Amino acid sequence: MEQPTNRVFSGVQPTGNLHLGNYLGAIRNFVGLQETHECIYCVVDMHAITAWQDPKELAHNTREVAAAYIAAGVDADKQVIFNQSKVSAHAELTWILNCVARIGWLNRMTQFKEKAGKNRENASVGLYDYPVLMAADILAYRATHVPVGDDQKQHLELARDIAQKFNNDFAEFGGEDFFPQPEPLIMGAATRVMSLRDGSKKMSKSDPSDMSRITLTDTADDIAKKIRKARTDPEPLPSELDGLKDRPEADNLVGIYAALADVTKEAVLQEHGGSQFSSFKPALADLANERLSPITGEMARLMEDTTYIDSVLQKGSQRASAIAQPVVARVKEIVGFI
Ligand code: TYM
Repeated sequence: MEQPTNRVFSGVQPTGNLHLGNYLGAIRNFVGLQETHECIYCVVDMHAITAWQDPKELAHNTREVAAAYIAAGVDADKQVIFNQSKVSAHAELTWILNCVARIGWLNRMTQFKEKAGKNRENASVGLYDYPVLMAADILAYRATHVPVGDDQKQHLELARDIAQKFNNDFAEFGGEDFFPQPEPLIMGAATRVMSLRDGSKKMSKSDPSDMSRITLTDTADDIAKKIRKARTDPEPLPSELDGLKDRPEADNLVGIYAALADVTKEAVLQEHGGSQFSSFKPALADLANERLSPITGEMARLMEDTTYIDSVLQKGSQRASAIAQPVVARVKEIVGFI
């Protein structure tokens, strides 16, 4: 079986409140990679249900993530866009990889600890097993590169460990070098966008405060208001990177500006060093609106045409299955299933 050398896989959960962190940390990078790679972009609805989802909202949110991919510039004709639950290879491979992954490995996953919180006994088994499903997502396509935000790095390392252990365990049975080691691609100036209300917390879909995040359904007024009210310190912006140390809120806004403008943080500070937030914030709001409004506008238009989105997902899932099914069939052979 031929091993591709430049196959990208990534996914986003359809859990609502798609935000600037998802865009700058992941979706935007999906777009550039299409020039050089074969890309498979998944709406990971099976991951979403590891925490309760209202079924109607799940369907809406699934279409919304697909719309975001397309609106951001992923070419639905050339690349594969689909939702995870339509391709059974993900669930099938997860079971086999569950038997490769070790409990000790999963116990180290910081995201599970954060998400399960104090009420760990009451978390779903799916939430615990989620990193193995994520490994299966990637390995079912024998993907070589995985663009993600910084928070997914540990899950990627686990996927690499699982791939390696499978290859070793089954080396004598055709498993040697079967799975590639997927490379994380953590790119740009905003790999970890922080909450606008608290520079020590990640911007997240589940933060109870809507003011903590800029979403891909916000209007220009919403965005301007959220940036105006973003927490900052009283000092002007520094001219050097060093001056952002111990100033997490300032660092975050500079990082967002840099990512949106596609320049480095140093370049932003060269231009805006010495400015007060009262002048930097409106400049950031204008830039954010300039960059986001074509995308949010196109997303809203696409969401009016659910027939089109559903057809993209349908066609994408057929193409995804055509790649993943033979991989899973080979894995079954390797482990000795007849
Ligand atoms: P999810 O849905 O939480 O986030 C989607 C993508 O957005 C990135 N991201 C961020 N980047 C920068 N700053 C932030 N504040 C921020 N918040 C989120 C995430 O790193 C991610 O790239 N488990 C994954 C989805 C997944 C997946 C996969 C990814 C499932 N299977 C296989 C890659 C490959 C997740 O929950 O992402």
